[in-house]
Amino acid sequence: MSAKYLVTGGAGYIGSVVAQHLLEAGHQVVVLDDLSTGFREGVPEGAEFVRADLREAGRHLDASFDAVLHFAASSQVGESVVRPEKYWENNVGGSLALLTAMREAGVRKLVFSSTAATYGEPETVPIPETARTAPTNPYGATKLAVDHMITSEANAHGLAAVSLRYFNVAGAYGDRGERHDPESHLIPLILQVALGRRDHISVYGDDYPTPDGTCIRDYIHVADLADAHLLALDAATPGEHLICNLGNGSGFSVRQVIDTVRQVTGHPIPAQVAERRGGDPAVLVASAATARDRLGWSPRRADLTTIVTDAWDFARRRA
Ligand SMILES: NC(=O)c1ccc[n+]([C@@H]2O[C@H](COP(=O)([O-])OP(=O)(O)OC[C@H]3O[C@@H](n4cnc5c(N)ncnc54)[C@H](O)[C@@H]3O)[C@@H](O)[C@H]2O)c1
Repeated sequence: MSAKYLVTGGAGYIGSVVAQHLLEAGHQVVVLDDLSTGFREGVPEGAEFVRADLREAGRHLDASFDAVLHFAASSQVGESVVRPEKYWENNVGGSLALLTAMREAGVRKLVFSSTAATYGEPETVPIPETARTAPTNPYGATKLAVDHMITSEANAHGLAAVSLRYFNVAGAYGDRGERHDPESHLIPLILQVALGRRDHISVYGDDYPTPDGTCIRDYIHVADLADAHLLALDAATPGEHLICNLGNGSGFSVRQVIDTVRQVTGHPIPAQVAERRGGDPAVLVASAATARDRLGWSPRRADLTTIVTDAWDFARRRA
């Protein structure tokens, strides 16, 4: 059955891919985005676009909406350390305004973009949702605060809510892919080397307790992530705040990612080992058991070559 959704942050990387999937499933989509880091051309054809700040969501929401998918946020970890106030204001202040607008409009279903950064340094790997949450940067702290806010909204006011805690999102879906500026994610950074925009890729530490000494991360294809959002809309239950990690459940080391980019692009990708960065855990891998059991989700594009090939096709087309 066709439904109507508000997608905040739908001009950004992940929000635009999910908006495209919603349209392909026959739903009506309104994108609300202030274009602070997103792009007007990222909004898929067929979606209505409202250029507005999250705090103005109340003017655009009414009872005709079935749910909100909330991607809009500031999400640069490094920036959050030097400008924490921006993160508390935008991520926490903006989400609070959105929850109020939803309550007033009678829109009682939410899917929220949470993050692996809510956990901080893991005590066990793969990381389950019951793991201790101890974020190591303001970005993760603000996302955790929003998760707490959503839990209390579900308990007190019956909101049906699902938080999806993404691990490392990568890959592209047709014309929609990663365009962060500055870019901080590994795969698009390595692809910049392949495109001749950087001389080399820096490997931050090669003496971690992992098989090849470099950090291991869990990469998930953005189209698999989109599938999980559609399933989350079906699984959301009034009065419950369900939290699900989203990852492939298997990790790849920085060296494995560089090698895969070499194979896919045919470029030698010079790599230079640099000092470790503070706060980088050796291994971050999700347990996706809850997403499998509660959403019926499993990744269909878990293979690193597929993820890198899709990201490379997108990067080349843009170049
Ligand atoms: N990319 C990842 O690997 C990753 C991992 C974990 C979680 N997340 C979360 O997923 C979400 C989407 O991430 P992304 O990589 O697509 O980022 P993005 O920067 O590409 O998209 C965010 C979008 O939100 C918009 N926005 C920001 N603040 C706004 C505001 N106050 N009002 C209206 N619009 C606003 C931006 O213009 C942008 O279009 C974010 O919440 C992020 O924290 C991303």
